[in-house]
Amino acid sequence: MKAALEQIKQAALHAAETCADSKGLEELKVKYLGKKGELTAILKQMGKLSAEERPVIGALANQVRSQIEELLKQRGEELGRAAQNARLAAERIDVTVPGSPMPLGHKHPLSIVLDEVKEIFLGMGYDVADGPEVEYDYYNFEALNLPPDHPARDTQDTFYFTDKMLLRTQTSSVQIRVMEKQKPPIRIIAPGRVYRSDAIDATHSPLFHQIEGLVVDKGVTMADLKGTLEILAKRLYGEDCVVRFRPHHFPFTEPSAEMDMQCFNCHGEGCRLCKNEGWIELLGCGMVHPKVLSGCGIDPEEYSGFAFGIGLERLAMRRFGIQDLRLFYENDMRFLSQF
Ligand code: DAH
Repeated sequence: MKAALEQIKQAALHAAETCADSKGLEELKVKYLGKKGELTAILKQMGKLSAEERPVIGALANQVRSQIEELLKQRGEELGRAAQNARLAAERIDVTVPGSPMPLGHKHPLSIVLDEVKEIFLGMGYDVADGPEVEYDYYNFEALNLPPDHPARDTQDTFYFTDKMLLRTQTSSVQIRVMEKQKPPIRIIAPGRVYRSDAIDATHSPLFHQIEGLVVDKGVTMADLKGTLEILAKRLYGEDCVVRFRPHHFPFTEPSAEMDMQCFNCHGEGCRLCKNEGWIELLGCGMVHPKVLSGCGIDPEEYSGFAFGIGLERLAMRRFGIQDLRLFYENDMRFLSQF
């Protein structure tokens, strides 16, 4: 029995030392010290021993039990410390490592120029108005003095949902929506997307952006229009920017004009950039047609107004010297990161 106890002790000590986790230790405890464990099994046989042997073996068994207990406890503490150390090592944060920079985006070139234009007009007391891109024929054409079958519609073919609903071809539609809701004085710009069924090339896109402008009040004249748009050109392109107004036709303005700026490259001499014209077209404008005013319930005898429409892509191309409008939409970082 002595030998058996000694054997249990050695086996338990060896098992404890090589055990790698606390679950294993728990199993060892059951295996050696539990009610059905090996040590208990030995003690159960004590009855067979002689009276002299019993206390000797009993003392030895107790000694073995407490030795195993002690070792399991030690081993448990050791494993606990090791587990904690491993966790600390895994969770360690080196606060001295330099932070990794967060890549910050920046404004798209079209947004840069649009924000500039907004800033200029807000400074002159304008509000920014908005209108739907899916528009009724009425707002996009009819109320702008473009009745069905008007030939000028041909230059602005678009995408139709129904006979009466389309993707707007111009932000001029917002003029009507504003005048229906608001009585003069009116001073707004309305930037937004417009659509035309044009094939895409360096200067055309089926989707582009316009900025509409509308002023209606008592006694508004063409001089106000010219002064306002000249200020816009000078703020955008510098104080020495020279502009001219050229007669034109738009159905919703009378008289109508286009504003050109003198070519910044050749100063009017003529070069490749301005196609030898010396001038670069910037926008369309005019005095709001009396029919358009009265159609919105504004008395043209009492009020007058001017309006203009600017192509944002064109403005930005001039501004940054960009030759191909497709660059704006391709999301090529080599292009975008230059701004
Ligand atoms: N909507 C015109 C276009 O897309 C531009 C325009 C011209 C707008 C004259 C106006 C204007 O408000 O008065 O070609």
